[in-house]
Amino acid sequence: MNIRPVRVEDLPGMQACNLQNLPENYTMKYYLYHAMTWPSLSYVAEDHKGRIVGYILAKMDEDEKEDAEPHGHVTSISILRSYRRLGLAKKLMVQSQRGSMATIYRASYVSLHVRKSNRAALGLYRDTLGFTVQDIEKKYYADGEDAYAMRLSLKP
Ligand code: ACO
Repeated sequence: MNIRPVRVEDLPGMQACNLQNLPENYTMKYYLYHAMTWPSLSYVAEDHKGRIVGYILAKMDEDEKEDAEPHGHVTSISILRSYRRLGLAKKLMVQSQRGSMATIYRASYVSLHVRKSNRAALGLYRDTLGFTVQDIEKKYYADGEDAYAMRLSLKP
């Protein structure tokens, strides 16, 4: 299994992976926007044949109204079912955060939203990576489920 920065030709594979794994889906334009604007923040995991089995889609947050600190945001991360629990998501998160958000973009923290019921993702964010819950955003998702707004400091 190989983890590397995303390339434009990976985007259809990334989108296919997202469609299989999550109800939150995005247009190809939105994937392209991430890859072209912050090319070092999004990564893919590929198998030995070069098939995309997981991805992290991340960006720098542009909403600076309340908070002038630059910060990263994980738009989406997922791993195909048969490749889970191999440490791939953890590696993708660490690459994006420590590799590039902090060093290239000087992000002081990284944020994300996760469904309250998403036990696997909460295990990854809270227990493995050390994220904390900042807020609960009521009915954040289209089906009415609440989200935890989570953050991890990237300050050394
Ligand atoms: N139950 C409990 N804890 C889990 C689980 C689980 N099913 N899966 C992962 N974890 C935790 C564990 O602490 C694990 O460490 P361990 O294996 O040493 O115990 C740690 O996370 C790291 O696990 P990884 O192997 O790196 O995680 P994986 O590659 O399996 O991917 C992910 C985790 C992305 C949540 C995967 O289950 C998935 O794709 N789920 C469907 C899509 C999804 O929910 N994505 C997140 C939505 S939120 C967002 O995108 C911002």
